[in-house]
Amino acid sequence: MPESEMRAALFDRYGPPSVLYEAKVPVPRHTSEEIRVRVHATTVNGGELAARAGELRLLMGRRFPRHIGMDFVGEVVDVGSSVTDVRNGEFVCGVLPRSTELIGRRGSAAEYVTVKPNRVTRKPRNLTSVEAASILGGGTTSITALRDVAHLQPGERLLVRGASGGVGSMAVQIGKAFGAHVTGLAGSSTLDFVRDLGADEVFDHRTTRPGQLERFDVVLDTVGTDHATYRRLLTPTGRMVAIAFDTSHPVRSVGYLLASTVHGSRRIRFFSGNPQRELFTELVQLAEDGEVRPVVDTVHQLSDIAAAHAALEAGGVRGKHIIEVTPDSE
Ligand SMILES: NC(=O)c1ccc[n+]([C@@H]2O[C@H](COP(=O)([O-])OP(=O)(O)OC[C@H]3O[C@@H](n4cnc5c(N)ncnc54)[C@H](OP(=O)(O)O)[C@@H]3O)[C@@H](O)[C@H]2O)c1
Repeated sequence: MPESEMRAALFDRYGPPSVLYEAKVPVPRHTSEEIRVRVHATTVNGGELAARAGELRLLMGRRFPRHIGMDFVGEVVDVGSSVTDVRNGEFVCGVLPRSTELIGRRGSAAEYVTVKPNRVTRKPRNLTSVEAASILGGGTTSITALRDVAHLQPGERLLVRGASGGVGSMAVQIGKAFGAHVTGLAGSSTLDFVRDLGADEVFDHRTTRPGQLERFDVVLDTVGTDHATYRRLLTPTGRMVAIAFDTSHPVRSVGYLLASTVHGSRRIRFFSGNPQRELFTELVQLAEDGEVRPVVDTVHQLSDIAAAHAALEAGGVRGKHIIEVTPDSE
């Protein structure tokens, strides 16, 4: 393959996992303010399934082919002339800006990404690229949700809905690191995994009625449905953070989230994460301190990205499906 070309995952229409394919595309050029990273590993996250399936087409439009992938771990291979804080040969991890997914002109399921240096930090010393990739998106989202949005305090009771997924598996660990009592709601096949991550209590979301659960100071919802039901489980000073909405009923779901904001302290807080270096650096520290551990379900090759999407879509994930793009050269 010429040096000006690279392998990347693309799709030409919205649809099932099989719309994804590996193609050769030009290697992206970096500007004087950017770095170019050779990607070792990226992951599949729940939002990307919805994006690929066309559930966000009103926001994403109909421009094809589209790239996919947001988080990445790799080696810096080029540094723009104005960049002073990142060096060639450094091993870094980061997430592309949120707008990347909506525009679709690039993605981290590719051999190279270009990015501003404030979107990366150095890779955790104690983790491989595959392991580091597994904590990035979920870890930064969980720190933002639990600390910055919910202001979770030691000793408080936290409920994580979707506790075995990419975000939930990190939220369980970070909730424990922040000193909370953590209850996880997950599928029956993953309850052992969620308990191993440190959850104090685990319940099967298919057989547990919300009314059977106790009250919580903080509810983190990664699922997007039944917001009203879970909001009722809050204590009078409780806080609910939602990171997803119901893509089958977007107007009703987003409408409810917006309407809830008029109900004072028990309003549902929604945010769309767009992490930068400071947040990655905090996460790396938690990993190096042993407060969070990697959550690798399965490692797939880039050419098998359709199978990776299908595997996540099938349910029962234990953390993250990883796409290994090029082998770790460290
Ligand atoms: N706002 C933000 O900044 C932000 C950031 C990251 C992600 N997100 C969004 O958050 C959502 C989750 O992302 P993710 O990457 O964690 O997805 P994921 O890895 O696919 O995990 C979803 C998890 O939810 C579980 N689940 C499904 N239905 C459930 C239910 N009724 N009750 C409890 N658990 C249930 C699944 O378990 P089973 O398959 O075993 O049922 C799975 O473990 C996506 O919609 C994504 O777009 C938002």
